[in-house]
Amino acid sequence: MILDWQQLNRDVMAVLQIARQRVLDRMASPLTVAEKTNRKDLVTNVDRENEQFLVSEIRRIDPEAHILGEEGFGDHLTSLKGRVWIVDPIDGTMNFVKQHDNFAMMIGIYQDGVGQLGFIYDVMTDVLYHGGKAVDGVWANQEQLTAPMDLPLAEGLMGASSPIVIHDIAHMQAIVHASSGMRIYGSAGIEIINCLLGKTVGYISYLKPWDIAAGQILLNCLDVRVSTIDGRPLDMLSSNLVLVATKKAQRDILQIEEDDVSL
Ligand code: IPD
Ligand code: CA
Ligand code: CA
Repeated sequence: MILDWQQLNRDVMAVLQIARQRVLDRMASPLTVAEKTNRKDLVTNVDRENEQFLVSEIRRIDPEAHILGEEGFGDHLTSLKGRVWIVDPIDGTMNFVKQHDNFAMMIGIYQDGVGQLGFIYDVMTDVLYHGGKAVDGVWANQEQLTAPMDLPLAEGLMGASSPIVIHDIAHMQAIVHASSGMRIYGSAGIEIINCLLGKTVGYISYLKPWDIAAGQILLNCLDVRVSTIDGRPLDMLSSNLVLVATKKAQRDILQIEEDDVSL
């Protein structure tokens, strides 16, 4: 089957718009919230229902799809062979529960391990970031984005997840010290959007495949680097300590790692 990536892009956008409305409707009723591994790792009825909906729609538009979904409604994947869809139905579940804001839906589509199309939907602002290698560009709704400026670490803000800062993982305090300051948004998707828009020069977090699958595709398309904290490619079937950064900020951060700088 020859795949029409432009058509697939439009199909996924349409599905995500329906999914958004369903999530907004469900938010009018109280959420059912459960802990997964600990009290800061939550899942709601909406995470589960939305993944079930997305998985069934993906199977409808792409019967050959192999699906890796955070909540387990996809397939059990042991390789990235074929067309692999990686789904995070609600990214930033803590924000979703506590703020009803600052959360995203994310889908990344890989063909034989190569990222092709990425989607990050900022649900409450109703902006869908989409695009990638297969369609040669990244858009925020209908507006095409230009690559963010390649600023060095000293000239930009850094993002990170709270545990990285609390435990000073990967010399985070030294990295923040060398930057213009730090910001924490509590959703990998929202952090990645900030990198896409040039609002931050980087982001560091422990991430699962569904946290970074869509973002990696969109970021790479705008020349923003995605690697492990020591500069290696990500393993998309496992957890990684991820460094997202402009080219110059990546160089600066890898230098801090190499020099083993602490405050
Ligand atoms: C989490 C958020 C959070 C990041 C965690 C992720 P979830 O995703 O993106 O910002 O620090 O590592 O697991 O669980 O809300 O989909
Ligand atoms: Ca996530
Ligand atoms: Ca999630």
